[in-house]
Amino acid sequence: MSDHSARILALRKEINQHNTHYYVTDNPVITDAEYDRLMLELQHLESMHPELVTPTSPTQRVGGSPAKNFAELKHAQPMLSLANAFSEEDVSDFIRKVIDGLQTEFVEFVAEPKLDGISLSLRYEQGELVSAATRGDGITGEDVTTNVRTIKSIPLILMGDHWPEIVEIRGEIVIRVADFKQLNQHRLKEGEKLFANPRNAAAGSVRQLDSRITAQRPLSFIPWGSGACSVAIASTHADEMARIAQWGFAVSDEMKVLHDIAGLMHYYKDLAQRRHRLPYEIDGIVYKVNYVNLQQALGSTSKAPRWAIAHKFPAQEESTVVLEIEASVGRTGAITPVANLQPVTVGGVVVSRATLHNQDEVERKDVRPGDTVIIRRAGDVIPEVVLVIKDKRPEEAQPWRMPERCPRCNSLVERLENESAHRCIGGLYCDAQREGALSHYASRGAMNIEGLGDKLIAQLVDKGLVRTPADLYQLSVSQLSVIERMGEKSATNVINAIEQTKTTSLARFIYGLGIGQVGEVTAKQLVAHFGDLASLMAADEMTLQEVRDVGPIVAKSIAHFFEQPHNREVIQAIIDAGVHWPKPERVRSEGVFAHKTVVLTGKLEEMTRRAAQEAIEERGGRVIGSVSEKTDLLVAGAAAGSKLLRAQKLNVKVIDEHTLMQMLSE
Ligand code: IVH
Repeated sequence: MSDHSARILALRKEINQHNTHYYVTDNPVITDAEYDRLMLELQHLESMHPELVTPTSPTQRVGGSPAKNFAELKHAQPMLSLANAFSEEDVSDFIRKVIDGLQTEFVEFVAEPKLDGISLSLRYEQGELVSAATRGDGITGEDVTTNVRTIKSIPLILMGDHWPEIVEIRGEIVIRVADFKQLNQHRLKEGEKLFANPRNAAAGSVRQLDSRITAQRPLSFIPWGSGACSVAIASTHADEMARIAQWGFAVSDEMKVLHDIAGLMHYYKDLAQRRHRLPYEIDGIVYKVNYVNLQQALGSTSKAPRWAIAHKFPAQEESTVVLEIEASVGRTGAITPVANLQPVTVGGVVVSRATLHNQDEVERKDVRPGDTVIIRRAGDVIPEVVLVIKDKRPEEAQPWRMPERCPRCNSLVERLENESAHRCIGGLYCDAQREGALSHYASRGAMNIEGLGDKLIAQLVDKGLVRTPADLYQLSVSQLSVIERMGEKSATNVINAIEQTKTTSLARFIYGLGIGQVGEVTAKQLVAHFGDLASLMAADEMTLQEVRDVGPIVAKSIAHFFEQPHNREVIQAIIDAGVHWPKPERVRSEGVFAHKTVVLTGKLEEMTRRAAQEAIEERGGRVIGSVSEKTDLLVAGAAAGSKLLRAQKLNVKVIDEHTLMQMLSE
């Protein structure tokens, strides 16, 4: 018996330490399986000795039976709110009042993130968690102790031993952005209602009547201060937070001690910029007087302390009305539902459109023209419709349907299997896709035609002056000059810019063709493999898959592109217009393989193909993917097939791997 109780205590201590490593310092020292074994052993021993089970045992974090509702819990010290500042002026008013109140010029401040979560007060007596309460009205909160016990970043027993006999730790319950995404993805899969944002999810989870549900939610706790304590924790806020961290809490590592308005504003701007890269959401900065005795000297109003202020970031979410849902045709033919909105300012920017991504999304969120919606604009991300406020839906609001025909060219709209997007099948018959193809051809990574922007392209297409990239080379200054707001000077500049693209690289040209799935990197790999355009255009899907990183889907897309007579015509017309790509200078002109074009085939035993290719290139050779008259050497490994036959037919010299190794060692 005493053996067991000693083991139980040891296990609890060990598990608590691992919890801190895992949930607080993000630094686990044992595997999950090892952790589970410790937990199982503890559960087993406790089931043999129910009299030894305490509410602070880690086994009690799993949650208990549902409560009817929450009991009220009066705060030993009120949980006040914070006054808000929205501008630099508001902040300097705050500083002025602090300085006047304290009658001193030099005051030390701390700045820290304002966490966007649910505030919570944790009460520890003799180092043990005894209760946890939400803020409520600030005087009385809800007793959420059972739920809070399930939150792993909250120690049930404080670490170390230098804590006051009674201490209240206050802070914010949050859900990390990454955890939130996972949570919503899971809910989507299960067909459950999605949470609008991490704060709502955190609030809903803490206030669950069934703590077993809370236990499954990825809640984290981040302290920002303290409440009633039997003795003061420290003489400054910064030291207080450092001590709280020693007791096993994850405090924010963004806190800074600062001295003047310039420092505070610099901190604000820096964090406002980095806000979207933090692991959790924040909605502003809190500035606090650092010294606790000065805080006390300033005191509080009935609502908020005079020694602290919240400098809020512009809101990221606003409500507005959906005027209509438009099917917008993208440059690849993908049709995206876009909500046209009653304009509203979000995060300091007027937003009048928000993406709805695809038809499934419209259905899932059930967005209808006329609906009042919450939209969200986080950083540079495209504004999104978060949810519909169903209570405000007009009676006549009808569900939206994807049109059956393309709004730009009237071609049929189809949805491929396994794809979430609908597409216009019009291809280059569709002006939207024509504009897309041209804009891609002119883009920086492709031909980089300065001055040929989307607006100009749209006008050129609209006036019928340009249909394919090849037509660009037939444009004249006088044709361009008739375009709206196009002076002769800028027209000449554009024509010159187009002229300059006649000398380019093959990789840029291939990328510029806008073949589905072929980005800049793939284009380069295609060039490295095939060496010239003719070989690439002649390659079948199997051959294409020999190229690095090219799988069946990419190969199919490339082969399909070059099969289209229309595409071949456009390519020929571009080349006829004078577009060419000088062969790059060989990097090396010495070595056993100097000036030799080599093809590798079959299975190599001694080295990977990639390594063989690199070794040959280092010695001046060029490795390409297919055999032609121009090939100097074929290296045939085991089980070589069609390439070997072709080489023999074309009288190309063939060597085996053994000979290759000899040449490489020369
Ligand atoms: S200090 C006396 N610091 O914001 C009140 N609060 O709008 C002292 N909050 O109720 C609060 N991050 O729930 C403080 N770093 C932070 C905070 C923070 C978030 C919450 C807190 C408070 C609310 C006021």
